[in-house]
Amino acid sequence: MNNEVARTPARDNRVLHDGLEGVLVAETRLSEVDGERGRLVIAGHDVEELAESHGFEELLALLWGEHVPLAPGPARLDPQLGSGSDAWQRALADGRMRAFERLPTLGATLELENGMDALRAAVAQLPESTQASELVAALPVFAAAWQRTRLGLKAVPPDPQKRHAEDLLHMLGQAPDSDKTRALDTYLVTVSDHGLNASTFAARVVASTASDDVSALVAALCALKGPLHGGAPGPVLDMLDAIADEAKAKPYLRREIAEGKRIMGMGHRIYRVRDPRALTLERAVEALSRALSARGHAQDEAVRGRLALARAVEHQAEALLRAKKPERPLRANVEFYTAVLLEAVGIPRALFTPLFAAARSSGWLAHIAEQRTRGRLIRPASRYVGVLPARSDELA
Ligand code: COA
Repeated sequence: MNNEVARTPARDNRVLHDGLEGVLVAETRLSEVDGERGRLVIAGHDVEELAESHGFEELLALLWGEHVPLAPGPARLDPQLGSGSDAWQRALADGRMRAFERLPTLGATLELENGMDALRAAVAQLPESTQASELVAALPVFAAAWQRTRLGLKAVPPDPQKRHAEDLLHMLGQAPDSDKTRALDTYLVTVSDHGLNASTFAARVVASTASDDVSALVAALCALKGPLHGGAPGPVLDMLDAIADEAKAKPYLRREIAEGKRIMGMGHRIYRVRDPRALTLERAVEALSRALSARGHAQDEAVRGRLALARAVEHQAEALLRAKKPERPLRANVEFYTAVLLEAVGIPRALFTPLFAAARSSGWLAHIAEQRTRGRLIRPASRYVGVLPARSDELA
């Protein structure tokens, strides 16, 4: 450092928002997360109502058709699509067909070990000009093809007559089942959008630089992959497997907490009460279990048992976390019952996060469009705490 004197930077009086907690950086018409009251509104509807009475196509029509102002330029959402869900069904069906035609060009992408790595690599190969609806449609096609490839099976072509949720199960090689389709549709709608979560923020940051939709979508996928965000439901099931018996929940959880481990599926940055999505998904599993039971389906007992175990584990985890951290409510989040629902629908756990991406892509693309129409370049500041060499004009 020659004759320069190293010193630490002068303290500045700007407030540091660690993890950007509570910092407002955008206005949105897409969704509202009220963490104190446990209320989630998506496209002007409470999530409970949406999940109960709307499918994924209707959700898209609401979220994109009415709530995103169309912007001029390449980033705009498909202008021919209004608020009718039939148009959305056709657009998604076309998009799935086009994505399927691309599979032979993806090379070794579908052989990657991790489903999110495969999805990220496959999406990155889509042309920049790909329409937003085609991007949403492509994710389940790539996810299902990845799953089939790792099983050594041929990809199943989409059926354009089917709705999105039904076709997803079809592409995974499952027999048609209207009750499971309904449960999956509930899941897709429930997790479609959620304010400025980490992956949506990542997408908006990239969109704010005037980059393209595909790049913004890849950024969102990268953020979602992390276990603190979209990677939690697989580990939730691992935990339920390890506990296996309600009586073992308390000692297991106590040990994990004593070792300083986080209980997956518990806690949230925004919610100080139970995540309302945990309720919609828990109800959907309950409805599926009832429907399976009414049909005398062999799987009914397994679903009922899993749901009972999950409820017991949630109850114990909540109590133990309350005792450990009374000042910080740590309640079940969406991932807890995502794990139970997707398992009941027959989705392998390696596909949990890719399917979360397939659903959340609806919100990501809407936020990307919204960012372009309303937002400025997102560029926060950092406080330098490294060594500051003295400048020669400051030396005595
Ligand atoms: N299990 C045990 N302790 C937890 C916890 C969990 N699931 N979640 C948070 N905590 C504890 C933290 O250890 C921290 O304790 P400390 O103050 O003694 O260090 C405190 O609660 C606050 O946690 P913090 O990391 O500041 O909260 P956050 O808002 O940054 O994190 C999550 C939110 C979701 C990342 C966090 O709750 C978590 O890791 N949950 C598990 C993963 C998960 O389910 N992710 C899906 C989210 S939808």
